[in-house]
Amino acid sequence: MNSSYDMLCVQPSSDGVQVIQLNRPEALNALTTQLLDELASALSVAQSDSDVNVVVLTGSKKAFAAGADIKEMAERDLVGILNDPRQQSWQRISQFSKPLIAAVNGYCLGGGCELAMHADVLIAGRDAKFGQPEINLGIMPGAGGTQRLVHAVGKSLAMQMVLSGQPISAEQAQQAGLISEITQPELTLHRAIEIATDIAKKSPLAVRLAKESILKGMDTDLATGLRFERHAFTVLAGTQDRNEGIAAFLEKRKAHFTGR
Ligand code: CAA
Repeated sequence: MNSSYDMLCVQPSSDGVQVIQLNRPEALNALTTQLLDELASALSVAQSDSDVNVVVLTGSKKAFAAGADIKEMAERDLVGILNDPRQQSWQRISQFSKPLIAAVNGYCLGGGCELAMHADVLIAGRDAKFGQPEINLGIMPGAGGTQRLVHAVGKSLAMQMVLSGQPISAEQAQQAGLISEITQPELTLHRAIEIATDIAKKSPLAVRLAKESILKGMDTDLATGLRFERHAFTVLAGTQDRNEGIAAFLEKRKAHFTGR
């Protein structure tokens, strides 16, 4: 475990997978400025660590994260919010270009749900609750909740969640497309690592460009998205991993990808 973080447990990578656990259980992993800054830093270390191909982000049994830290937020006025250093952390988190898998148990609310939606794959324990309860505090989501949630669950459910503040269950989240799998709560992290380990064996270049292509497509019109996809596909034609993948198939053996 890496001791340079107060509010995270960062495990050493194994088989290309690194687990980062939010570790502020006394406040249900409420996201303080420090926690978000530590997370952004841990992801930026993982970004440049060639032993890390995929990161799994998780919380505790009771909460992935119960939102922005309300006590800290109470101390900020309009100018404080305008100059909020957390904005930079969110930016850095969103720039992580390796696959990020969220393993969610318990409360996943407000900024916690917004953080989970930064992940490329979300899976959750049967007991998980996803919500944007900011409206109950007289505010609204401010870290992507009104934007990413619409992509994830569609307009009607996003409106219902954001305007009423009522959370949805893991089952509803899966039906709506916010999460891809439901697990027994005690198996969520194990299953996330299993998915991550599988992805970590693929060509890192292909994985990176495929992720970028999907995210680009969510952000733009179809023609631009298709053009980006075609360019990315073409770039991969020049990689050793592509030669290795095709040769391995033809020679009926397992491919060994090197990221070149
Ligand atoms: N900020 C700060 N502290 C929090 C917190 C939060 N978001 N959520 C929980 N905590 C703290 C509680 O204050 C409590 O601490 P104390 O023991 O020192 O009082 C501790 O965590 C345990 O919480 P509860 O006793 O409330 O636990 P519970 O099981 O009774 O209830 C809960 C759990 C329903 C999640 C409840 O804690 C809750 O409603 N939390 C707030 C959820 C919320 O409104 N999130 C949105 C925040 S705003 C936001 O996220 C904006 C943004 O991103 C831009």
